Amino acid sequence: MSILSGKNILLGVSAGIAAYKTATLVRQFIKAGANVQVVMTPASKDFVTPLTLSTLSKNPVYSTFTDEEDENATWNNHVELGLWADYFVIAPATANTLSKMANGTCDNLLLATYLSAKCKVYFAPAMDLDMYKYPSTLRSFKLLKDYGNVMIPAASGELASGLVGQGRMAEPEDIVSFIEKDILNGLPLYGKKVMITAGPTYEAIDPVRFIGNHSSGKMGFEIAKAAANLGAEVILISGPTHQTISHNLITVVPVVSAQDMYEAAHNYFKSVDIAIAAAAVADYKPKEIATQKIK
Ligand SMILES: Cc1cc2nc3c(=O)[nH]c(=O)nc-3n(C[C@H](O)[C@H](O)[C@H](O)COP(=O)(O)O)c2cc1C
Repeated sequence: MSILSGKNILLGVSAGIAAYKTATLVRQFIKAGANVQVVMTPASKDFVTPLTLSTLSKNPVYSTFTDEEDENATWNNHVELGLWADYFVIAPATANTLSKMANGTCDNLLLATYLSAKCKVYFAPAMDLDMYKYPSTLRSFKLLKDYGNVMIPAASGELASGLVGQGRMAEPEDIVSFIEKDILNGLPLYGKKVMITAGPTYEAIDPVRFIGNHSSGKMGFEIAKAAANLGAEVILISGPTHQTISHNLITVVPVVSAQDMYEAAHNYFKSVDIAIAAAAVADYKPKEIATQKIK
């Protein structure tokens, strides 16, 4: 599970040639488990269609303050859009849109949403190399970073113009992993390793019977999830349970008996910062385990 799972991502698209890559970007966010809405500048609709992005995001795409073709037009509420978002990602960000964002211009829905959003904003510039290094563009980058926005730098390579240099929008998968890493970096347990034990243990009596208990494992699994959501790398040593978990920061180490759990816990204990023992380890075990079913 990605750290973006369940998060609301508002994608702002402006009129750069790299807008065609936003179809892939939307898919990558959805694949990471995020909910996606898209707001476009009017000019960007020449580069990628709202139909494509609404189909992929499974949400309406907004580009104007009102639906001009609807005589009972309702207002596309930029404030609500801004408040809905956990993260606002502007990609591609044109020189024009960046300059307007930096200077507080508010002449389209994307810009009004930007000014009203309270969430973290990422912007991925995309433009020709000379535009990218023009002093006014560099000034926009600086101002936007000073406002607390996070820049996802453009890559170097061949540009749509045929020139070679810095200005290519970061690839969609690189944008997603940049954002994931940035979010993780800001989490309080980022860089920490946590070991958690969970569930019951089964102590064999013979090949078919065991002494165990009704521990569900839920406590340990929930702690593991919470620790991972706070950025920790989690080793979850679990006895036999019906719990399942899928998170890219959690490694499940399945064990059966108290001895297995003891060995696994001792193995990982040396390398972790925090250990939480939530397992319901069996209190008793047979002195001997019969090799044949006891009759
Ligand atoms: C074919 C074409 C490609 C363009 N590519 C870019 C680009 O990659 N980056 C950029 O900053 N501007 C680019 N522009 C210029 C912008 O489209 C133009 O500045 C536009 O007004 C930006 O509008 P917006 O920022 O409101 O979306 C391009 C224009 C055309 C016609």
